[in-house]
Amino acid sequence: MTWLFSSLLLTGGLVSVLALTPDSFTAFKAQAGFHTNAALGLSGLSSHGVVGSDCPQTPALHPSKHCELNDRLNRLYDSERFKLHTYETLGDAIRIRTEIYDDIGPVGGDDRWKVFDEFHEFLEDRFEILYSELSVTKVDEYGLVIHWQGSDDSLPPILLAAHQDVVPVDVDTVDEWKERPFSGHYDGTWIWGRGSCDDKGPLIALMTVMEELLEAGFTPRRTIVLASGFDEEIGGKMGALQISQYLQNEYGQDAFALVVDEGSGFLNMESEGDNVIIALPGTAEKGRTDIRVEVSTPGGHSSFPPQHTSIGILSSAVVAIESTKHTPKLLRDGTPFATYQCIAEHVPNVPDSFRRLVEKAKEDDEALCQLKQTLLEELYPVQNSALLGTTQAVTLIGGGIKVNALPESASAIVSNRIGQHSSVIEVREHFTKILRPVAADFNLTLEAFGVEVTTGSSGHLSIGTAFNNAFEPSPKTPTDSSNPYRIFSGTIRAVLEGSKIHPSKDVVVSPMLVLVNTDTRHYWNLTKHIFRYSHFSQEDVHGFHTVNESVRAEAVIEHIRFLTTLILNWDEATV
Ligand SMILES: *[C@@H]1O[C@H](CO)[C@@H](O)[C@H](O)[C@H]1NC(C)=O
Ligand SMILES: *[C@@H]1O[C@H](CO)[C@@H](O)[C@H](O)[C@H]1NC(C)=O
Ligand SMILES: *[C@@H]1O[C@H](CO)[C@@H](O)[C@H](O)[C@H]1NC(C)=O
Ligand SMILES: [Zn+2]
Repeated sequence: MTWLFSSLLLTGGLVSVLALTPDSFTAFKAQAGFHTNAALGLSGLSSHGVVGSDCPQTPALHPSKHCELNDRLNRLYDSERFKLHTYETLGDAIRIRTEIYDDIGPVGGDDRWKVFDEFHEFLEDRFEILYSELSVTKVDEYGLVIHWQGSDDSLPPILLAAHQDVVPVDVDTVDEWKERPFSGHYDGTWIWGRGSCDDKGPLIALMTVMEELLEAGFTPRRTIVLASGFDEEIGGKMGALQISQYLQNEYGQDAFALVVDEGSGFLNMESEGDNVIIALPGTAEKGRTDIRVEVSTPGGHSSFPPQHTSIGILSSAVVAIESTKHTPKLLRDGTPFATYQCIAEHVPNVPDSFRRLVEKAKEDDEALCQLKQTLLEELYPVQNSALLGTTQAVTLIGGGIKVNALPESASAIVSNRIGQHSSVIEVREHFTKILRPVAADFNLTLEAFGVEVTTGSSGHLSIGTAFNNAFEPSPKTPTDSSNPYRIFSGTIRAVLEGSKIHPSKDVVVSPMLVLVNTDTRHYWNLTKHIFRYSHFSQEDVHGFHTVNESVRAEAVIEHIRFLTTLILNWDEATV
């Protein structure tokens, strides 16, 4: 039973885990008994590379023309001096508190932006060669675009991205941190502080790689562009969106060979001393829209109230919302189905019944339906529901100003994450449909997204978009025999197969649907080939967006190795 339970959890849970922020995989591991699961054998890996595979694995891709340079840089990265210098650079970056706030004013119109000037001075100072030899453009003051001209203009450039801003530290939690939240302290194993994983580790890794390549005399054939936004944590409209528009003007639409930004990572699955790694680059992300529901009724003294106040009516609306869930869908052309196929084909010790069901579901509608039921009812319902459909969570509520005054209005905000098959409009229609009876019950005028739907005389129920947040689910990065996917996944395999800190018996790469959004939501016009991936495992990072954020120092070096190989592989590629 334990074995079956762990395997089922693994099957269902694995895929969900990296889609969330990486600290959730820590919770997942604990839940699944990840490390102690001795039953995870390695028998399932024999189908690698077989013809007709539903999840073909690219062989490890190593630079050939740039082999000597890659080796030389890897030796440099091994040196204690290089490591300590890198840790110090990341520590310094963390110590500059580039916190971003939901209510921050426009750039230049709010003193809280000033710290970004300091951050830019620091980068310029630390990455001297990069700033002096490459062309650096500032977009909307703090957006960074760094252009490294290649010698062959017929090759589309690559875009590598990482953001500068970090989520604020809640002052009430400072005491719970092992190290001060902005200490940047290296304790011999970990580098501590807000931003260490998200996203200053990857940003410093990227700049370090470009600096080292310059210093080594590398001259790219293919143009390399670095993009760095500064408001990712509040939606990227000042940073990434402006950067995207700048890039579309300068390079053209669809001009990039690929875009790589933060995202999911890889998962270590230990078993009897062996390690199998599942890397899950995000090849798509869900959509998102925040919806505000507001009830307004006449005010008055609480001593002679009507039967229901705005707050009471809003409560009925919230109950209606929570009792009507969206229906998840398992579609053959969706990213989650591709992930389940990879798991069924390559993950060790997935139960045979599950393997067979996934195989059958490729053609057989009944099996597809049964698979969906198994995923949603038996395996990991919460995570699989999130992967397969639109989710909704009522996350904010407000109303009332005084105990003896009837509240004239009350409102709630619902965070909706839109399933890959759905759309913003479908979510809006869902809200209008489920709240129409509430408006009728309380005799309210229903207004939905600027349109009056029904009229009533006791007040208003209005539904609208909150925070101006409405993003469709992303397009899917091509994966089947697509060259950029092949190069990207071959690079992951090459770096992991040579990894000193993540020794593995095998590496599997699978496409993945990311549940949250990244700056790439603004980059769709730049390329079809977007990869949301940070080269970290679940053991390399802690405390995303919360207390004790820290990154394993050696993992930053691994990230540097990954980006170096990625750049060199792309420089040799002809696509
Ligand atoms: C932060 O780390 C310290 C030391 O490991 C630990 O005692 C504390 O519980 C952690 N805080 C949280 C909220 O995880
Ligand atoms: C709504 O209120 C109006 C005016 O108070 C009243 O005439 C009407 O019957 C009410 N309708 C319902 C469905 O309660
Ligand atoms: C992408 O291109 C379309 C068509 O040119 C344009 O309408 C849209 O605003 C662009 N999106 C971004 C984020 O630049
Ligand atoms: Zn981030």
